[in-house]
Amino acid sequence: MNAKATTTYRAGSDSVMLRRAMGCYATGITVVTARAPDGEPVGLTANSFTSVSLEPPLLLVCPALSAATTQVLLEADHFAVNVLSDEQANLSRLFATKGTDRFAETQFETWHHDVPIIRDALANFECQRYSVADGGDHAILVGQVEHVRFAEKGDPLLYFRGEYRSLQRD
Ligand SMILES: Cc1cc2nc3c(=O)[nH]c(=O)nc-3n(C[C@H](O)[C@H](O)[C@H](O)COP(=O)(O)O)c2cc1C
Repeated sequence: MNAKATTTYRAGSDSVMLRRAMGCYATGITVVTARAPDGEPVGLTANSFTSVSLEPPLLLVCPALSAATTQVLLEADHFAVNVLSDEQANLSRLFATKGTDRFAETQFETWHHDVPIIRDALANFECQRYSVADGGDHAILVGQVEHVRFAEKGDPLLYFRGEYRSLQRD
């Protein structure tokens, strides 16, 4: 018998339990950005980021239908996924907090499609919208990667069991 404490979840149980179960899967953290039709930059923190395909080059992220930013992300021709470094936990918090001016003090640039590209991220993926699929209370936004910049060095910001973590090296 395994002596480790475990918790179970069944369909229909409290979704907090499902969230806790999903939290066992460690992820990096991204900020997904786009430009609203009025020209305002928008973005939200998301860890639902996955590489999908190499040929063609596709990735996905899942914005919540309840998030204010989601409509812009789903309707924009282009968006960017900015993978945060372990020095950017402040950005992760900022882009997950409602009622703040997320870009007032955020260093960003633009490349080919006027999408905000966050500076000093570990990697930036500028994408064209490829498809949007039903994901329950989230959307599954697939992007075709057009331009990438990534750092050869530097550690990621990690998320595990609902907390920020860093890589530990021996
Ligand atoms: C670590 C972390 C990961 C998150 N991942 C996602 C995600 O994948 N999709 C999502 O829609 N929201 C995610 N969120 C929540 C959004 O960042 C948060 O709801 C944000 O405030 C939405 O802003 P808006 O309503 O102004 O668009 C995450 C938050 C944190 C802290």
